[in-house]
Amino acid sequence: MNEESYQAHLDALTAEWSDVLEENDFDSVLVAAGKNSYYYADDQEPTFHANPHILRWIIEEKCEHCILTLKIGEKPHVHWFTPPDYWYLPSSTPKWVASNFDCQVHTTVDRLHKACAESLAGSHRTAYIGQEPSAHLTHQNIHSASAKLSSQLDYGRAYKTPFEIECMSNASGVGVRGHIAARDAFFDGASEFDIHAAYLSASRQSYHELPYPSIVGINEHASTLHYQHYDTEPPAQHRSLLIDAGGKYNCYHSDITRTYSLDADLDFSRFVRRVEELQQQLVSEIPEFQSFVELHERTHQLVAETLVDHKLVLCSPSSAYEQELTDIFYPHGTGHLLGLQTHDVGGHLSDRDGTVANPPERFPSLRLTRRIEPSMVFTVEPGIYFIPILLREAAGHKDINWSKVEQFLPYGGVRIEDNVLVESEGVRNLTREAFQFELS
Ligand code: GLY
Ligand code: MN
Ligand code: MN
Repeated sequence: MNEESYQAHLDALTAEWSDVLEENDFDSVLVAAGKNSYYYADDQEPTFHANPHILRWIIEEKCEHCILTLKIGEKPHVHWFTPPDYWYLPSSTPKWVASNFDCQVHTTVDRLHKACAESLAGSHRTAYIGQEPSAHLTHQNIHSASAKLSSQLDYGRAYKTPFEIECMSNASGVGVRGHIAARDAFFDGASEFDIHAAYLSASRQSYHELPYPSIVGINEHASTLHYQHYDTEPPAQHRSLLIDAGGKYNCYHSDITRTYSLDADLDFSRFVRRVEELQQQLVSEIPEFQSFVELHERTHQLVAETLVDHKLVLCSPSSAYEQELTDIFYPHGTGHLLGLQTHDVGGHLSDRDGTVANPPERFPSLRLTRRIEPSMVFTVEPGIYFIPILLREAAGHKDINWSKVEQFLPYGGVRIEDNVLVESEGVRNLTREAFQFELS
C-alpha cells in the first residue's frame, strides 16, 4: 500500500467530513462498523458486511464492532475490538490503522462503547452513522445522522481520491486474473462450478470474500441476468459462457463481465465481437455526454443498430428504438457507480442535499442518472440477450426475425462490462488496462 497516498486520502476525507458535519450543525461523528447476526433459529451467521462509511477510512473488512469517531479539528479515532477468543481468530489492529489513527483496543463491546462515549463527552452534537446504537451510545448529544448529512456523504463517495483509484485499479487486476483462468477453463470444457473454482483460485479469493456472487452462465444460462447456480457437470455441448465476476482490493470492488463463444467462425461469435465493439465505442464516447441517462439512451441506439445489422430485427434502428424492441433484448441499465459497494450509493442523487433524479419511466432499472464528472468510477456494461420470458411477451411481432432469434436462443446472450474512471480529459478503462497488463 502507498502510505503517502493513503495519508492524503485520509486528509481529504477529514476535510470533506468536517465540512459536512459543520454544515449540519454537528461537531463530531461516530461511525459504527456494525455487528453480524445469526440466521433464524441457527448458530451460523452470514459473512459480515461492515458499514461502508467506516471502510472508506479503515479499509479493513474484519472490523465487526469497531467504531470510528471524528471530532472537527482532531485526528480521527478508532476503537478497535479484539476479544480473547479461541473459537474464532480475533482480528488484530491493522498496522495502517494503528499508525494513522488515534487507536484504542478493547476486549469487550461494553468497554468499547463506554470508552467511545467518554471520548465524545466534550462534544455538543455527535452524528451517529450505523445500526441501532447500544445504551452507552444513546446519550442526549448523540443523534442519528440526518437524511441530508447521509446524502451529502453518499453523493461525495462518487468522486474517488487518487488512493481509491489505485485500489480500484488493483481490484480490476484481481478480477482480471480470475477472468483469464475462467476463460481458459471454459475453452477446456469445464463445468460452471469448475470455471468458478478456476476463477476463485486465480484471483486468490474465497467465495465469501467476493464483491458479489459471481455469475457463471454457460449456454442458455447466460440469458438469466444474475444467474446464481453453478452446475457441477459440464453440458453436453459448450456453446457460450457469460461470466460476471469481480475482485476486491482494500475493500474496493471491481465488476467485470466477459462473454465467450466457442468457435470463432460461428455467427454468434461474430455477434459477441460486435457487442464488444459496441461497448468500446460507448466507452470512447463518454466525454461527449453530460449525463449517464444520455449514455444509456445512446446504448439503446447502438443496440438497435446491432440488432438490425445482425438481422435480429427487420425494421430500421430508429424504429426498433421507438417501438421499444431494444428493451426486449437489453432490459438492464448501462452501468452504475462502483466503489466500496458493487452498486455504489448515490447513483440517483442529482445534488448533494438529497434531491433524487429517478430514471426515465422507460428505463426503471437504470441505477445511475447523475451528471458524468471527473473522478467518478462507473461500469459500462451493455448486453444483448435472448430471454424467453421477454421474447414471449413480444410473440409474433412482425419486426422481430424469429428464426434468427431461435438460432441465438441456445447461446443465452452477451454482456461486456468494464470499470471506467472519468478524467478531466477523456476516460481511463481500469479493466482493459488490467487485461493488457496481465496478458502482456
Ligand atoms: N455484477 C452485477 C452488475 O453487473 O451489476
Ligand atoms: Mn455491474
Ligand atoms: Mn457485473
